[in-house]
Amino acid sequence: MDKFVVRGGNPLLGTIKVSGAKNSALPCMAAAILTEDEVILENIPQVRDIETERKLLTSMGAEVELGYGRAQHRTHIKCAILSDPVAKYEIVKTMRASSLVLGPLIARTGIARVAMPGGCAIGGRPIDLHIKGLEAMGATIVYDHGYLEARTDRLKGAHIVFDKITVTGTEDLLMAATLAEGESLFENCAREPEVTDLAALLTAMGAKIEGAGTGTIRVQGVSKLHGARHRINPDRIEAGTFLIAGAITGGDLNVDCCEPKHLGALISKLEQCGVKIDVGTDHVRVRSGGELKASDITTEEYPGFPTDMQAQYMALATQAEGTSTVTENIFENRFMHVQELIRMGANITISGRTATVRGKTPLQSAAVMCSDLRASASLVLAALVADGETILDRVYHLDRGYEHFEEKLRGVGAQIRRMGDVFGKK
Ligand code: UD1
Repeated sequence: MDKFVVRGGNPLLGTIKVSGAKNSALPCMAAAILTEDEVILENIPQVRDIETERKLLTSMGAEVELGYGRAQHRTHIKCAILSDPVAKYEIVKTMRASSLVLGPLIARTGIARVAMPGGCAIGGRPIDLHIKGLEAMGATIVYDHGYLEARTDRLKGAHIVFDKITVTGTEDLLMAATLAEGESLFENCAREPEVTDLAALLTAMGAKIEGAGTGTIRVQGVSKLHGARHRINPDRIEAGTFLIAGAITGGDLNVDCCEPKHLGALISKLEQCGVKIDVGTDHVRVRSGGELKASDITTEEYPGFPTDMQAQYMALATQAEGTSTVTENIFENRFMHVQELIRMGANITISGRTATVRGKTPLQSAAVMCSDLRASASLVLAALVADGETILDRVYHLDRGYEHFEEKLRGVGAQIRRMGDVFGKK
């Protein structure tokens, strides 16, 4: 199992480039199921979740060519024949986003068999809202030996009000609705940029969608979608992680090839912490503004502070003067990084959904364990300012969602290296 060895103390200086968003790429790859034509996606990040999705689509009969070596990280997907519309447990168990194939599979083939998902261990993470929505659209869904089996002749448009805002749930039903008979009206939808990105691809494929990026989405079903070419948005969570890396190390970092509009909540929070931020059209420069100041966060759906940045922000809060509270509203078990940060010397207590971080504490190097994707990033950030050499175990969690993370950080002065199997050979 790969490990990272990180020696703290260097301010990060220079320019670091952001890759395409994993959380946009995953639904966009699933959207290719909706047509027999070729879908070409650019700016696909080279991360393990994408490789898992490639395996998933290929196992169903799709042709997928991941073109990392070529310009734009271009990927070609052709689902001319879906001979086996099954998302097998062996593949799904490592990635919860596999449930994203449920909607497009049933919409295209009238049948889908999808193993109940695994993925990050950050709470129960049910998919009941995906199921309820598809049932409202006319699918019959039964649970069979760890698999959901969905059947229908053709999905019918429906009026669905999500009980709770769900990102992949919105995406799953949006894809299903594109090929349903008649109109679908979805309310209380996720407004995340990844939903908008998916809607842009679906529209390019011939779907009739209004309101993506707002809480209400209307879809007029069509009988067929066609191929399209689409460029995936920059990864706002990777960009945010680098902004915190610049801030925590007291560096001067230009985070390039990002979409600053998607980073509003984080940027204003960093400014409250005393960090200097210059926003350009496709880059954000972060500089030390002297001592970091404590500030509270509460995670919310977009455009609020993202849950996917909570762990990284907590690393920063350990280095801020004063007390910060970090309230996690989206997932019930997303404080697994806390114990590891405490082992590095942080002063953090948890009460229910709120962690109280008392700064500023010097962090010490230690052997720490990554527990999920964003927790891993948080520990790397802490290690960048720790005294000595931190060893992070189980970085396979990080490899699920960050492209060439250690190489990018090394390029701006971090002392970080990988030990163990080379990524991609496991
Ligand atoms: C997506 C992101 C993930 C991010 C999360 C919240 C992808 C691939 N993953 O995950 O990185 O942390 O959004 O921004 O895009 N819920 C239900 N029933 C459901 C679905 C969700 O109760 O059927 C609950 C969840 O348990 C959670 C909340 O709704 O408490 C939000 O989850 P959701 O938005 O669905 O997260 P994901 O789409 O899985």
